[in-house]
Amino acid sequence: GEINLNIGIDKIGFYTPHTFIDMVKLAEARGVDPAKYTIGIGQEKMAVSPVTQDAVTLAANAALRILDEEDLEKIDLVVFGTESGIDSSKAAAVYVHDLLGIQSRARSIEIKQACYGATAGIQLAKGHIALHPESRVLVLGSDISRYGLNTPGEVTQGAGAVAMVISADPRILSLGDQSAYLTNDVMDFWRPTYSDTAYVDGKFSNEQYISFFLNTWKQFKSQTDLSIKDFEAMCFHLPYTKMGMKAMREIFVEGTSEDEERLTRHYKNSTLYNKTVGNIYTGSLYLSLISLLEQDETLKPGDRIGLFSYGSGAVGEFFTGILQPEYKEALAEAEHAKLFAEREEVSIEEYEEIFSEVLPVDGSNLQLTIENDPAMICVAGIEEHKRIYVNKN
Ligand code: HMG
Repeated sequence: GEINLNIGIDKIGFYTPHTFIDMVKLAEARGVDPAKYTIGIGQEKMAVSPVTQDAVTLAANAALRILDEEDLEKIDLVVFGTESGIDSSKAAAVYVHDLLGIQSRARSIEIKQACYGATAGIQLAKGHIALHPESRVLVLGSDISRYGLNTPGEVTQGAGAVAMVISADPRILSLGDQSAYLTNDVMDFWRPTYSDTAYVDGKFSNEQYISFFLNTWKQFKSQTDLSIKDFEAMCFHLPYTKMGMKAMREIFVEGTSEDEERLTRHYKNSTLYNKTVGNIYTGSLYLSLISLLEQDETLKPGDRIGLFSYGSGAVGEFFTGILQPEYKEALAEAEHAKLFAEREEVSIEEYEEIFSEVLPVDGSNLQLTIENDPAMICVAGIEEHKRIYVNKN
């Protein structure tokens, strides 16, 4: 039956490491025409993660920005979507639960399905809140995307995390009950447990992404009375900012030139943050949503936003949300502007050095210097096979 509760995103914040590279300089270093990266791929800057950040700390730093005392008392489910997990057994959510000081009567779990993990977390949160309307759920999407130096995927790397509080009567986005989803076993992108970089069939992955979008979009329309004209804007999982447009333009034939103009205009705002961060896998769709909500001055309460989530392998989902009356006040726009303003550019040589600095995989101890990392929460090293996390607060 229908769920009568209004459930959705009450808070949304993100974190990205303090260092980045410029894509024009990366193109020059790789002997590629810079326009391929900035226009063909659509990326301007790429976050570079220092060894003192991992999926756990990025997520904890993102959540720090949005949680207050009431959240810490009411959150009873922490769902951590990631494909950059640090342990095959223990959930990354358990570390974040402790680092943030969330009350202990809670479930904390990690979910994996490539870039789809945080969407799975949101859908799980909706069911949980339908049963327990007083609950608040913390959903995290955190990743460090690595394809390797000098690979075609290099330009589509990135690092960062999104944190969301899902609740009843949300202040930002009310999520609809209708959702269209699809699973199909394809090998377009994967990362075997022995590898710290991803394997990818680039062209095939682009095709699968578009095909999953068209399939779930069609399914969504058949489940509802909605069509392209009912959507003020659409947000996409963005492995790079050209990807969502490649998919969206396929459905422009279903609408008028006004629909095309409107969706294209909003799309530009929904890609601004992703253009300067890169692919953050599980967090990418939600980083795009943050970008749209914080940077688009023409959106208004009541507008319907379409959301397309894609996780290679592959699972896709199309769902929608309605902007709530006071969504602007509930955003963390000033915090995000500060985060971007305080980032430092590193040279391509420095980036290559940072890229090669990884935590030991042979079980040896290591102590890291965290003074150079301005993040509140950092990885301080490894002792007896345990990662040491520090909250500087
Ligand atoms: P590539 O082979 O280096 O690039 O790989 P290309 O030759 O296809 O060129 C890219 C675009 O640049 C093309 O535009 C060119 O025309 C254009 P398009 O035809 O596609 O519209 N171009 C230029 N434009 C202007 N000036 C120029 C110029 N030269 C060329 N001078 C690829 C690109 C994305 C495949 C590669 O970077 C890659 O493999 N990346 C990783 C995989 C990926 O991001 N796939 C996306 C879909 S799968 C997904 O989203 C899931 C994922 O996030 C993982 C997960 O779920 O966990 C990846």
